[in-house]
Amino acid sequence: MEWIRIYEGKAKILFETGERGSVVQRFKNDATAFNALKKGSIPNKGAINCQLSSHLFQFLESNGIRTHFLERISPIDMKIRQLRMVGLEVVVRNRVAGSLVKRLGMEEGTPLAQPILEWYYKRDDLGDPLVNRDHIRILRLAEDAVLAQIGQMAKRANDLLVPYFAERGILLVDMKFEFGTDETGSLFLGDEISGDTCRFWDATTHDKMDKDRFRQDLGKIEENYLALFRRVTRHEPEI
Ligand code: TMP
Repeated sequence: MEWIRIYEGKAKILFETGERGSVVQRFKNDATAFNALKKGSIPNKGAINCQLSSHLFQFLESNGIRTHFLERISPIDMKIRQLRMVGLEVVVRNRVAGSLVKRLGMEEGTPLAQPILEWYYKRDDLGDPLVNRDHIRILRLAEDAVLAQIGQMAKRANDLLVPYFAERGILLVDMKFEFGTDETGSLFLGDEISGDTCRFWDATTHDKMDKDRFRQDLGKIEENYLALFRRVTRHEPEI
């Protein structure tokens, strides 16, 4: 059966393949920032992010975090569970960076005494605003119990990923997660985990190895995505 494109986002495309309960997530080289005001393309980003995400989803699964990952079926295509997505972006921060610099007036790189969890309402037309539990309840984005479970899973994923990256000489500064439920209501970590959705710094030099290189025009973007991939997975990506 021919694949049917059911959704196209800024960095990924979703296809229905005719198989019940699963869809295919294709990773694009396209990159955007500042709510798509800045647009570009990073060579081989699709393959690198697909394979890095596959690697990290398998790592988290093997440590008890349920994810939507089922199987990687090409360098840029991942078979995933079909989920009903919660309309929130969940950010976990270990150090001050990005929008937190502006919001709290703290210096970039300042370590946080405990991880900060933030919720953003996934609405491009509003610029994905920061929201709290009351907003989420009013908007009926998630039941309180589901939200609590999402918060626990996000923090647990951070607790697993921080030492995993530290062992590879990388500081996990912050990350964005998205979650969804299957037809039985079970919660899964979805979307992707890559240099597009996390901040990764070299642990010694604090050099940026993620999408901030694109956002801030720092150059050597593909080189850094590749270097990150090699350090984390300890092998070469299939390009
Ligand atoms: P922020 O500091 O810009 O709020 O970003 C926090 C984290 O979320 C950072 O790791 C980058 C990631 N992120 C996304 O994945 N998508 C987005 O649209 C934004 C704004 C941030």
